[in-house]
Amino acid sequence: MARPQSRYVCQACAAVQLRWEGQCRTCGEWNTLVETVIREPERRRSKMGAVGPGAGRAGGGPAPQSLAGLREAEPTRTPTGISEMDRVLGGGLVPGSVVLVGGEPGIGKSTLLLQAAGGLAEGGSPDASGGSPSHEVLYATGEESAGQVRLRAARLGLLERPAGERIQVVAENEVGRICDLARDRRPEALVVDSIQTVTTDELEGPAGSVGQVRESALRLMELAKGEGIAVVVVGHVTKDGTLAGPKTLEHLVDAVLSLEGERTASMRLLRATKNRFGSTEEVGVFEMAEQGLAEVADPGRAFLAAADEHAPGAVVGATLEGTRPLLVEVQGLVAPGSYGAPRRTASGFDNNRLALLIAVLGRRAGISLGSHDVYANLAGGLDLTDPGLDLPLTLALASSLRDKLVPRDLIAIGEVGLLGELRPVAGLERRLREAARLGFRRAVVPKTRTPLPEIKGLEVVAVSNLREAIGRALKGGPPAAAGSGAGSS
Ligand code: TYD
Ligand code: MG
Repeated sequence: MARPQSRYVCQACAAVQLRWEGQCRTCGEWNTLVETVIREPERRRSKMGAVGPGAGRAGGGPAPQSLAGLREAEPTRTPTGISEMDRVLGGGLVPGSVVLVGGEPGIGKSTLLLQAAGGLAEGGSPDASGGSPSHEVLYATGEESAGQVRLRAARLGLLERPAGERIQVVAENEVGRICDLARDRRPEALVVDSIQTVTTDELEGPAGSVGQVRESALRLMELAKGEGIAVVVVGHVTKDGTLAGPKTLEHLVDAVLSLEGERTASMRLLRATKNRFGSTEEVGVFEMAEQGLAEVADPGRAFLAAADEHAPGAVVGATLEGTRPLLVEVQGLVAPGSYGAPRRTASGFDNNRLALLIAVLGRRAGISLGSHDVYANLAGGLDLTDPGLDLPLTLALASSLRDKLVPRDLIAIGEVGLLGELRPVAGLERRLREAARLGFRRAVVPKTRTPLPEIKGLEVVAVSNLREAIGRALKGGPPAAAGSGAGSS
């Protein structure tokens, strides 16, 4: 069998070249050549057998079956022992699945996965298909040395637990050797930290290049499907998504989880953006503590700002992440602009959305910010696209411009349309109930066709447009006291 060779394949037109070049000679596109392993045809067929949809067709593989006759067992799941993570996975890790855990560097991916490895090693069921009775978890680290992993494990208290024996750490970068080890030891799960450091000897490109990342991921998929071993892969993503690596993996793997938050703050949100074995609706909430990521007792209020700070420009909103309502503080700051175009800076929101809401405020609600610098921020380092945050955001800007407090026991929920009208959002009642539970007394919401049910302890103010909402939210709101403007008058 000849040694596999590598070629550069254009991702736009599939032309093949021997060497990397900036521009494809065939179609003229730039930066589309990706190093790819070219295999001998017969070897390729046997490889496809493990993964591709044409599995085993060459060797008299499975005959087609009628849709009605197919029986599909509920997948077995191995709990990770971290209930928030199991919740996001859909009940646990499925043997033979590949899960990509993405997030910015330093956010806590390695910590989460080492903790999960501990749980898997101690709680995995021995009779899960393909699972090993030894409950071993293989942890391949390319990012850190084995010693560094041990230090983290000590911090997480894993060394005194059975997991200390059962997690096998190997500092290895070459995907072939990682797979051989896994085939040999047949662990419950394989953790690869991270995909950007893994390479295959068959390609010449550097670790982290699209070709290396993709080929390594394919090998790990083959391992997972062929041996029934769950594979969890770490992938770094930068905030602006510049790193193409993990993005190209998303359609390959079974599930994509992302760990979000602000490195300097302690709260973390784990979200599934894709899940073949569960819903993508659920989120997990963690707090980065001294001994790793801890589950949060009351996730609904986890992302609210500290209770003793309240100033004009702060308005609380409620989002619905899956079935879980989360209350968040929206902060707006409006300052007279200096020369040139005014600044619009959004963190946690979409910049275009901010610009649009500023325009609606100016044209439909008489709040003109055309010559002001505008800053908008979502407390807690979250990044949310929930349209229900439009209303708290616009109220925060109005509150900041007029320097008037929005009462701190008031919550605002609603989407703002181009005409300044307010539109209801999904799960309004659930959000309101959570707000009432957390001590909010008043809610400004869009008028709905069917009246909302009574919610105990919460006065619901239904309004039909932005102008009215601003009037109601700022009315009677005490003027900002000098300085911090704390409390009520
Ligand atoms: P890490 O898991 O290394 O992040 P990633 O793998 O995503 O790059 O965690 C990074 C940060 O977490 C690091 O700055 C230290 C902090 N940390 C804690 O606060 N508590 C802990 O118990 C651990 C292990 C880490
Ligand atoms: Mg790491």
